[in-house]
Amino acid sequence: MFSLTVNGVSHTLDLDGDTPLLWVVRDMLGLKGSKFGCGAGQCGACTMHLNGQPIRTCITPLSAVAGQNITTIEGITPAHGLSPVQQAWEELSVPQCGYCQSGQIMAATALLASNPRPSDADIDNAMSGNLCRCGTYPRIRKAIHRAAE
Ligand code: FES
Repeated sequence: MFSLTVNGVSHTLDLDGDTPLLWVVRDMLGLKGSKFGCGAGQCGACTMHLNGQPIRTCITPLSAVAGQNITTIEGITPAHGLSPVQQAWEELSVPQCGYCQSGQIMAATALLASNPRPSDADIDNAMSGNLCRCGTYPRIRKAIHRAAE
């Protein structure tokens, strides 16, 4: 049995400790906003926050996060409206296909929480592990600056 808190809700799960957190959240908890991209920790589509820090949940076993706080894209989305980062994303029409954007927004949200006024270099450094096959990087950078205003 493993316990963890997801978006402020406690869960006790009778699962193999090797189960990747991404599948726990998507399949057991039904939160589908986090995406499966590479499955190898390389693309960032599966990014969630562990105690506020971005992590790759496709390669994070449930046993490694037992008793800790997980936040998903659903957890940063207000009941009505959008978070500041999501608002900037919408205003600047950042997504193209959209598949990677949940992970991008989670990485950007963690960046702004630790660095409210990031430079271009800070953004590039923080976001370099989140890949976008549509090449939305210039709009992502602009949207992070917009959200920081
Ligand atoms: Fe997890 Fe690509 S799906 S890093």
